[in-house]
Amino acid sequence: MKSNIPAHVAIIMDGNGRWAEARGLKKFQGHDAGMKAMKEIVKRSSVLGVKHLTVYAFSTENWKRSEDEVSGILKLLMIYVESELAELNTNNVKVDVLGDYTAANKNVVKSLDKLTSKTKDNTGLQFHIAFNYGSRAEIVRAASKLADEVKSGVLNSSDITDEVVSDQLWTSDIPDPDLIIRPGGEIRLSNFLLWQSAYAELIFSEVLWPDYTPEEYDRAIEEYGKRKRRFGGR
Ligand code: FPP
Repeated sequence: MKSNIPAHVAIIMDGNGRWAEARGLKKFQGHDAGMKAMKEIVKRSSVLGVKHLTVYAFSTENWKRSEDEVSGILKLLMIYVESELAELNTNNVKVDVLGDYTAANKNVVKSLDKLTSKTKDNTGLQFHIAFNYGSRAEIVRAASKLADEVKSGVLNSSDITDEVVSDQLWTSDIPDPDLIIRPGGEIRLSNFLLWQSAYAELIFSEVLWPDYTPEEYDRAIEEYGKRKRRFGGR
């Protein structure tokens, strides 16, 4: 089990709404249960020796959800910071955010600033929270920055390579994901790490995110370990 651990696992935490609905609960309670599942997977990632874990917490499209649901998720994020910061530090987890979180309200920004600054010197698992993240917006932003550089003469268009583009993404300091897991029964990427997932292994599961356990995670990692990765070669 310990061999062939992916260096970077990314997760689309899907199914919170359906989980809550099936139990006659409010959506917020589904997201709350999803947050609990996430905490366990963060812990398990450290134990397994995964170096990077990225979770899709809130997409650029999620603002379209009801005000109630959006404010519930934002509240959960702040609760997460208050309740988990000490444990994240105990477990040597470094947290950062992928996406422009300054678009959120002042309290959320303050909370995320606190989370990232207070964990910045940790050297264990790097936990990346994709918040107000969308892959297309990320690529458009990169294209626009590169266009500006070409226009100002800092860059020649003929020098634009994969690496030059990668360097302009939110993930510039992070290796591409080796494994993307999507629980919740849908078979799609939903605007998540589209550039970075070029050679990622994908694992889909019917289990709704709040029910996703460390054992389920272990099984996904084990399945990943059996895959033959060729990166386009033979
Ligand atoms: C998708 O499920 C999930 C989300 C849009 C939010 C994920 C958020 C959390 C797990 C909460 C906290 C996160 C952090 C980082 C503290 P869905 O509501 O789309 O599920 P459905 O498809 O069943 O409706």
